[in-house]
Amino acid sequence: MTNSAPILFPSLLLLFILLPISTSEYTIGVNYGTVADNLPPPSQVAQFLKLKTTIDRIKLFDANPDILNAFSNTNISITVSALNSDILQLSKLPAAQSWIANYIVPFYPQTKINRIVVGNEIVAASDKNLNAHLLLAMKSLHTALQLVNITDIQVSTPHSLGILASSEPPSQGRFRRGFDRAIFSPMLKFLQETKSPFMINPYPYFGFLPKTLNYALFKPNLGVYDRRTKKTYTNMFDAMLDAVHSAMKRLGYGDVEIVVAETGWPSVGESNQPEVNLENAVTYNGNLVKHVNSGIGTPLMPKRKFETFVFSLFDENLKPGLTEERNFGLFRSDLSPVYDIGIMRDGRVSDERTLEL
Ligand SMILES: *[C@@H]1O[C@H](CO)[C@@H](O)[C@H](O)[C@H]1NC(C)=O
Ligand SMILES: *[C@@H]1O[C@H](CO)[C@@H](O)[C@H](O)[C@H]1NC(C)=O
Repeated sequence: MTNSAPILFPSLLLLFILLPISTSEYTIGVNYGTVADNLPPPSQVAQFLKLKTTIDRIKLFDANPDILNAFSNTNISITVSALNSDILQLSKLPAAQSWIANYIVPFYPQTKINRIVVGNEIVAASDKNLNAHLLLAMKSLHTALQLVNITDIQVSTPHSLGILASSEPPSQGRFRRGFDRAIFSPMLKFLQETKSPFMINPYPYFGFLPKTLNYALFKPNLGVYDRRTKKTYTNMFDAMLDAVHSAMKRLGYGDVEIVVAETGWPSVGESNQPEVNLENAVTYNGNLVKHVNSGIGTPLMPKRKFETFVFSLFDENLKPGLTEERNFGLFRSDLSPVYDIGIMRDGRVSDERTLEL
């Protein structure tokens, strides 16, 4: 023992010096879904996120007043949602004014609400009536905000990638016929004029095949070459963003900002889903957070940053469907991490599953 001590000592010292440096901290947004009966009260969640994590923005699937209240003075930015079922009403200005009076004015600006999203994945669901009212609702809410002199809350709506007719190669991305000029041209014009982002929910998890698993997980792979642009894609996330960008650019709106409203990978699945496991969830979300914080951008949008919201903050035990649906969370209901992706403030969590990037 005594003989080895002088050798051991310097290496231990090195370890202590390196540890805080190797604990990278990234900022990220999370979707705060609440389809569960075991979640901590919003005030506890707000304090936890503020004090223990580097999460600096959340997205709600509703405009829950208890949550909006709990996040006052936390400096955490909040995207609130108007429900799909409210869209028809909200297309009329008086209803939009009441909605703003009920769900925004009482909380703003102590609660840092910075965006309202109208519905979720409406366009690709192809309900003609809702699609005809969606932009009207967005415009009414924007006008209602102006009427109460609120000028720093954006209005947008998140889309699934089902809005695209083609996405491969990324340079050939285009919106579905019938959606492009009728829905997306006027919507993108509104977003451009109001300096608001186009929002998408890209999920490589729902798009990979066994042979493209590494490509979906941002792991080393041969890449996918787009011969039209001579760009090589090393991950599916970039390819999805660039396909959307190509579709937007085709309509003349390549400069509108893109926000990733949802993306993620479940950590538990059914026994016949070998690609659903903790390791792949850590790999996808960890590499995602690193990638979107890097400032590298994508092959067609170099150096652009994409505000990104991981799905989801919590495992939600009341979600119907496959096991995976209840296991997209970064945290359990007792606030312990399911796994860490470099977003804990107090350095590394004592969990052997901590990600080594
Ligand atoms: C609030 O957050 C913003 C980033 O969203 C940051 O620039 C600012 O310094 C923060 N303010 C406080 C008081 O922490
Ligand atoms: C909005 O601002 C204008 C100009 O400063 C002011 O006349 C008006 O009363 C304000 N409206 C509200 C609802 O605060």
